[in-house]
Amino acid sequence: MNRLSERYISIQKTIRSHDYEYYILDDPSLSDHEYDELFRELKQIESEHPDWITPESPSQRVGIKPDKDFATFKHFQQMLSLANAFNAEDLNNFHDRILKNLGSHNQIDYFCEPKMDGAAVSLIYEEGILTKGVTRGDGVLGEDITSNIRTIRSIPLTLKESKSSFPALLEVRGEVFIKKPDFEALNLKAEKNRDKVFANPRNAAAGSLRQLDPAITSSRPLAFFAHGIGSCQGKEFNDLQEIFSVFLSWGLPVNNLNKLVSSIDECLQYFQDIESSRSNIPFEIDGVVFKVNELFLQKQLGEIARSPRWAIAHKFPAEEASTEIENIEFQVGRTGILTPVAKLKTVNVGGVNVSNCTLHNLDELKRLDPRVGDGAVIKRAGDVIPKMVRVIPKKKNRANAIKAPQKCPSCRSAIVMNYQLEWIVTDSSKSKPLKKFSSHYEAQNFLEINNSVNLSISEKSLETPFIKCSGGNSCSAIFQGKFTHFVSRKAMDIDGLGQEILLTLIDQKFINDFADIYFLKRHRVELEKLERFGKKSVDNLIKSIDRSASVELHKFVFSLGIEEVGETTARNLANVFGSMEAIQKSSFEDLIAVPDIGPRVAAKITDFFSDSENAASLELLLPCLSITNPNFHTAAGDMKFSGLQIAITGKISPMSRDEVKNLLVLEGAKVTSSISKKTNYLIAGENAGSKLVKAKTLNVKIINTNEINNFLNDPKKFF
Ligand code: IVH
Repeated sequence: MNRLSERYISIQKTIRSHDYEYYILDDPSLSDHEYDELFRELKQIESEHPDWITPESPSQRVGIKPDKDFATFKHFQQMLSLANAFNAEDLNNFHDRILKNLGSHNQIDYFCEPKMDGAAVSLIYEEGILTKGVTRGDGVLGEDITSNIRTIRSIPLTLKESKSSFPALLEVRGEVFIKKPDFEALNLKAEKNRDKVFANPRNAAAGSLRQLDPAITSSRPLAFFAHGIGSCQGKEFNDLQEIFSVFLSWGLPVNNLNKLVSSIDECLQYFQDIESSRSNIPFEIDGVVFKVNELFLQKQLGEIARSPRWAIAHKFPAEEASTEIENIEFQVGRTGILTPVAKLKTVNVGGVNVSNCTLHNLDELKRLDPRVGDGAVIKRAGDVIPKMVRVIPKKKNRANAIKAPQKCPSCRSAIVMNYQLEWIVTDSSKSKPLKKFSSHYEAQNFLEINNSVNLSISEKSLETPFIKCSGGNSCSAIFQGKFTHFVSRKAMDIDGLGQEILLTLIDQKFINDFADIYFLKRHRVELEKLERFGKKSVDNLIKSIDRSASVELHKFVFSLGIEEVGETTARNLANVFGSMEAIQKSSFEDLIAVPDIGPRVAAKITDFFSDSENAASLELLLPCLSITNPNFHTAAGDMKFSGLQIAITGKISPMSRDEVKNLLVLEGAKVTSSISKKTNYLIAGENAGSKLVKAKTLNVKIINTNEINNFLNDPKKFF
């Protein structure tokens, strides 16, 4: 090694240790001037010896601009989200659930942290070198934003040597955020340059991370705190406190307001302390987070519905602001439901600009009784949709309340009430109805279980507070709504098919059916002639349509817009059935065995697929797509319960029945609510009734309360 290369390495070291002192310890030993001089010298040496430069050099934070979109990246370990608590009672319930689930009354240590209002990211270090930075995305798949992450000065490109050796692979989870004063300066600059100002630091942070040009990200004052760990290979930790102190020793920034406590009462105290110092904390927080400190307890507790049972966010109370109602409109959604929406004079509520506020339905409209010109108090908590808390009447004359329209504001078809059916089981020997059900299936089931000759079912139609356009697909608002949903980010994710372009293509009859989107490339020449289209934009549009054609099954199912089928249900359908063909063929019975699907949703799904228009539309669309399902166990043998039909009855603890059902179904079981000869096992909890009797008469194997855990872990023992 010659003198110059020694000098080069030593400068790199000094700069790294300055970054650590400056960003992590907040206590730099070099002056700004000394630092700038060193940096200049580093660049000078690199210009003479470009072959010496490695990606870890401090000069290499701003890399080259990628030319297209961010690549998708699958997290090694899923990024979960947090359940919320809003008061002491919620918090005590959280603690009680933990004790119950652990089956012990031991004392629990909690790790308390402020809840940063920023954007979640995952950083991957391989042998101590930062190799990837990824957005949270949907928790499973994120976007590879490595080149932007590298521009954040408080994120080390290489971990600092410490007495803890580096894992072969480490996912550091944390929050990218902007400090309050930096945010103000950023917006001031934007205002001066007549650029867009950001509504809040969170939007600014998230927007900065999704810039295609890392030079722009680099110009934004982004900061980072680590708040968790994903996959970690080649190193064991015992608890969170240890993780964060090792993180600090490696030069990863960790919030110094974090604190370990040993009771839920101390958690509450922590919440109050942080809340009362909130205005002095230099970054936006929207609450605090409590996490069980010990990792083996975390593991035992597991997760439910994509949130860990071992952590909770205790949110600050919602913020309120008052404004003026400028108009009240009825908007027609893709299902035809008309939603009253208040158009407001824009107001900032807890850092977000609000100019629209849904009034949900006719009941809510009646409760609030708003008029154009009235004042209104708007409330918003965290990410929650703004809510109108109350109306401040301005007009003295309260006649002419806002009424539901008689005709659809979009297509002028008649407006109908949205009815919901209810099935009532009556016992002819008693005067009162016995039980009400939201589906005929459930009522029938009840009848079978309690096979008494006196029971009968009757149907009743209930009025709901929702109104609906009767126009169906001939209503342009409904029709457009379906397409807007189909192309949206969480569905087929077609960039460049924004609202206006979509409307033009529908208007000009280029699009009549979902499949037409994939046939657009046949009309390239005509498209280029349209107003606001050109060769390049048509090219880009077709490229993003082509890209969307290879799609994951759960996204495709979600994009179909089946009533009541949201993202979670779509994901469950994909996990359970594995292919589109299997979903289309599924019976009502198959569907209600899926986690989170009850009879009402199951009926919506079977209705959707048995509708001839939908069937025809799918027949055209499916050949255009390449649908994948990477998370599905293809080999049925991989799944613990494949081929088994299992019923559950009685009270089960510490897991709930739904949790047990989820677990079974995701591992291949068919879970039914009634017992037949085909049932292989009945899981019988406490107070099991008629099902247990029936199972015994049919010789169905019974798993009792003490055996449930063993059965779930290793069913083979029971075969
Ligand atoms: S822990 C499994 N800790 O809140 C636990 N999250 O809904 C996962 N967040 O996406 C997160 N501050 O972006 C954790 N101290 C903190 C946090 C925090 C902010 C965000 C994070 C996550 C969301 C959870």
